[in-house]
Amino acid sequence: MEPFIYQNPTKLIFGRGQLSHLSNEIKPYGTKVLLVYGGGSIKRNGLYDQVQEQLAKIDATVFELSGVEPNPRLSTVQKGIDICKSEKIDFILAVGGGSVIDGTKAIAAGAIFDGNVWDIITKKTHATNALPFGTVLTLAATGSEMNSGSVITNWETQEKIGWGSPHVFPRFSILDPVHTFSVPQNQTVYGVVDIMSHVLEQYFSDSPNVPLNEGFSEAILRTVMEAAPKAIANPEDYEARESILYCGTMALNGTLSMGMIGDWGTHQIEHAVSAIYDIPHGGGLAIIFPNWIKYNLDATTPKMKQLAIRVFGVDPAKKSDREIALEGIEKLRSYWNSIGAPSRLADYKINEERLQDMAQKAAPNGTTGRFKPVTQQDVYEILKMCL
Ligand code: NZQ
Ligand code: ZN
Repeated sequence: MEPFIYQNPTKLIFGRGQLSHLSNEIKPYGTKVLLVYGGGSIKRNGLYDQVQEQLAKIDATVFELSGVEPNPRLSTVQKGIDICKSEKIDFILAVGGGSVIDGTKAIAAGAIFDGNVWDIITKKTHATNALPFGTVLTLAATGSEMNSGSVITNWETQEKIGWGSPHVFPRFSILDPVHTFSVPQNQTVYGVVDIMSHVLEQYFSDSPNVPLNEGFSEAILRTVMEAAPKAIANPEDYEARESILYCGTMALNGTLSMGMIGDWGTHQIEHAVSAIYDIPHGGGLAIIFPNWIKYNLDATTPKMKQLAIRVFGVDPAKKSDREIALEGIEKLRSYWNSIGAPSRLADYKINEERLQDMAQKAAPNGTTGRFKPVTQQDVYEILKMCL
């Protein structure tokens, strides 16, 4: 294992009916609340009204920032920062998926920063503090509800950048599987692909002696793969939604990476694609990940072989390691196909035109990924395999 320090201060409040804790959780922070949400799903499914009821219990003065986009934009973050500064907001409440939460993290950091928040996101400087915020999660996918990461898109410069700070862990996150019943099929699938990809990014690691991390990882993959078809067939299957929600948080709250350092190159490549084409993050990952594993087969074979046998049920008898790994990749691809994930860039009408641009954005410093660093040329070749 690698030496590690682990600290995760987010209070996780999980299960049916847990929204009832919201008013008490916010109370200590003050009454001027900025409510941040997306394009309106929370109004359609009734959650908005339930949240307002909780806020009324503490006589909160509620300001709103709605319309946070999937792949949240810097311009929207700036609007939130302006409200926080002009109204002297005490607490921010994010109600939504990863985009709403990521946007909220940037608002929280920018709200008490004198300069341009983009300088924090691009790491020219770092956040020294942030406004406190909590979340009510509505979509299982990113793990943002219990981590300190955030991904923001600057649409003017076509850059999508991940950043993080210990100051932007949510103070609490409320996760009720019922709040995910209304997630449409495509977003459910993207979420599942994202969760699985977070596990894979960490699993492809050269850290020695990590059997427990691998076991956790494999259990998350098996659990989410079993639950996804049930949630797709019946969006109100509580147990399936519950399993997916729990897997999403556990895949990226730091548990798997205790002592095990992953790769994350595929995420960099996907962020470059969605910075230019604004496609769903999980859709991009479903296209890129199997090709990344295949392109780097010399490096990925031992771990992929292990996954093939332990998670994808490949029979290793009379097969070389490489054959087992390749069969595992095929099983991963066909699982994702079976739940309706995209498999080619052409599914999003993306052609060769801007592959070089994307390769450059994915590896601005020459290479991307830690377990198997890939060059801009490698990224270009991987994206060509994705066409
Ligand atoms: O905007 P609304 O109307 O709420 O609709 C959203 C949105 O259209 C909808 N949705 C969410 N909950 C719903 C619902 N629709 C019906 N019922 C509900 N209960 O789903 C759509 C997508 O939402 P979004 O928040 O964009 O999805 P997701 O959670 O997948 O977040 C994606 C973003 O997170 C970043 C991605 O790059 C992308 O920008 N990531 C953040 C990470 C992190 N902070 O740790 C890690 C990830 O790897 C990822 O990069
Ligand atoms: Zn992701």
